[in-house]
Amino acid sequence: MNNKCIAIDGPAGSGKSTIAREIATLLGWTYIDTGAMYRAITLKILSSNISLEDISGIQLLLNNTQIEFNKSKIFLDGKDVTSQIRSEKIDKNVSAVSAISEIRSKLVELQREYAAAHPVVMDGRDIGTIVFPNAKYKFFLTASPEERARRRYNQLRGKGISIPIEQIFNDIERRDHMDSSREISPLKRAEDAHLIDTDKLGIGEVVEEIMSRIK
Ligand code: CDP
Repeated sequence: MNNKCIAIDGPAGSGKSTIAREIATLLGWTYIDTGAMYRAITLKILSSNISLEDISGIQLLLNNTQIEFNKSKIFLDGKDVTSQIRSEKIDKNVSAVSAISEIRSKLVELQREYAAAHPVVMDGRDIGTIVFPNAKYKFFLTASPEERARRRYNQLRGKGISIPIEQIFNDIERRDHMDSSREISPLKRAEDAHLIDTDKLGIGEVVEEIMSRIK
């Protein structure tokens, strides 16, 4: 049983990253946003013009890729890509990229390396099922698609980006569908993960619930 890893999974917009970051701060642990890693690889593939069918090209690209976290920033081959990986273009392509098994193997290996070096709070889609099936603390966050779209809409507005809420809703539904129906490591609640429906809960309430379970 690994009690130095807290696994937080759930669909897009369920509040995972805000909550995971807060729990990590409270515990003084390292926060690892695995979605940001899939986004960073997507950025690299799109800028290298490699086709998703070109598995040997992807393998070569993976062997020459470095992903690092420093404070709340993510670095791809030494360059800060924290804002760049949140674009609409990445949103549109990341689910297809993250369905490729070679990419998943490489990123899962990196995720396990991070956790071997530090106690971590890690969020994603497959942390409790595949990356750390033996994690002592596992949580699965959900919320209705409408609420998740509303949250994403407000988050983007806060950054001065205005996208119609219907478009955000459709993107979330499409990504949920692709992430849940893919063959390898689909988005799924681990049987031993504690389910939290965050529809009517504020961030503080979810954080409190998680903290009370891990104390
Ligand atoms: O923040 P948001 O909920 O929009 O998504 P994210 O956590 O940044 O993840 C982006 C995408 O990466 C997801 O839609 C999945 O396709 C993929 N992903 C994955 O396959 N496995 C993970 N552990 C994390 C993300």
